[in-house]
Amino acid sequence: MQKKFIVANWKLNGDIKNITIFLKNLKLNISLYLKYNTVIITPPTIYLERVYQNIKNINIFLGSQDVGINKKGAFTGETSILMLQDVGVQYVIVGHSERRLFHHESNKLIAKKFGLIKSLNLIPILCIGESESEKRQNQTKEIIKNQLNSIFEYLGKKAFLNTIIAYEPIWAIGTGLSADPIYVESIHKFIKDYVNKQSANNLEKIIVQYGGSVNSKNAKSFLKQPNIDGLLIGSASLIYEEFLKIIKISHEISCEQINYS
Ligand code: PGA
Repeated sequence: MQKKFIVANWKLNGDIKNITIFLKNLKLNISLYLKYNTVIITPPTIYLERVYQNIKNINIFLGSQDVGINKKGAFTGETSILMLQDVGVQYVIVGHSERRLFHHESNKLIAKKFGLIKSLNLIPILCIGESESEKRQNQTKEIIKNQLNSIFEYLGKKAFLNTIIAYEPIWAIGTGLSADPIYVESIHKFIKDYVNKQSANNLEKIIVQYGGSVNSKNAKSFLKQPNIDGLLIGSASLIYEEFLKIIKISHEISCEQINYS
């Protein structure tokens, strides 16, 4: 059975005291729920090493929220993929809408970062999704296709081998207004069909997770859908109890699915 990918995106939140308490609690209670879940924590860059030291022995994985485009040199303030790898990062979020918006990251730049991550055998988590006005104008699929096409143009047919796609409609991020799970399911199906077609059907599996105001109350409705392979969680991942609840819900759904099959 394909494990569900549960990713905590802490964004620009946390401090040493709270991270220590969070990880201490998580370590005590998570082991029961890792059989069918791949849990990834993406803290702010400055805390990566600290988080890694706490999770390296318990099968939780370390992720970065972004990466610089250069490997080394005179690039003040940047973080390189080699450095991320050096401190234990295995997954890298790329193209989050907050990077696209606040840092003006283009599809082209994101494709380059995506390629850089893959070239080091790390796993990119590519965020895609439409804005509210694009949704209103029925442009969702066009926007998604453009976002995916720039990756295919840069890396060719096998671009999405060993990668994760996160569908995050921008209007659902941080708003408390999560998308309708049936709508998300239909978009995930669209993404998988499209990626499959562009890849000349040579991918064994395409993983698509959902992000946007996920919490312990709505997690089940998403994870029940056949094409929602995991969750990218922002604010709800900052509260230990809430995050653990979501992981537990995901575990229970996988157990139910196994019992039915
Ligand atoms: P949210 O953020 O869960 O706070 O909406 C999700 C994300 O931006 O990845």
